[in-house]
Amino acid sequence: MLDPMCGIGTTLVEAVHLGRDAVGIELEPKWASIARLNLETAAIQGAHGTGVVHTGEGAEVAARLALTSLAGRVSLVLTSPPYGAMTHGQVRSRRDGARAVEKHAHRYSRDRDRRTANLAYQRPEKLMDSFTRMMAACRVLLAPGGVVVVTTRPYRTRGRLVDFPGQVAQAGRRAGLVQVDRCAALLCAVLGGRVVGRTSFFQQVETRWL
Ligand SMILES: C[S@@+](CC[C@H](N)C(=O)[O-])C[C@H]1O[C@@H](n2cnc3c(N)ncnc32)[C@H](O)[C@@H]1O
Repeated sequence: MLDPMCGIGTTLVEAVHLGRDAVGIELEPKWASIARLNLETAAIQGAHGTGVVHTGEGAEVAARLALTSLAGRVSLVLTSPPYGAMTHGQVRSRRDGARAVEKHAHRYSRDRDRRTANLAYQRPEKLMDSFTRMMAACRVLLAPGGVVVVTTRPYRTRGRLVDFPGQVAQAGRRAGLVQVDRCAALLCAVLGGRVVGRTSFFQQVETRWL
């Protein structure tokens, strides 16, 4: 499997534990090295698949890989794009000995070159162009019958709900892929036989813009 925006390598780790061989591409060296460490840990834990992580821009590295023996051999491309400049990151509070709430690893790099290439910093139209380019580069690597899976979610900005999954599907079609399915997972509770929505803190803040 291939993840062209592999972050710290969750998809790669799950793949090698399933006995698959995994290739990751990550723009930011910091996340790429954590992904490599996570793959080493998976190997120590007995994962059978092999994993490799390339540092660089997803579409560019995928285009280079298309000139290698990997071309036409990837059965699964699995990825998830970033949503804005913040990551989930790590939080320490007084309970952990911090003086106040301290956050770290909660932003993508501000390095100028990487900032331009990082989808996390791109405006919606540019982001979709970059994503289309990335999917087109990955398509060349696909084996016959190979599948691309992108996990996304809608998000709110200034009160508006943005159909990000719909935009991603459109980018895939523009890259020459054929949509075969769309699976939805709802984050909600079932209380007394009724589905109750769970609004995140961020959704509540954004909805107050209205
Ligand atoms: C949502 S995160 C992926 C999280 C990942 N599944 C994990 O387990 O950590 C998206 C990642 O894409 C990377 N990224 C953004 N633009 C990129 C690009 N043009 N080429 C390669 N990686 C990129 C970001 O640095 C970020 O780590």
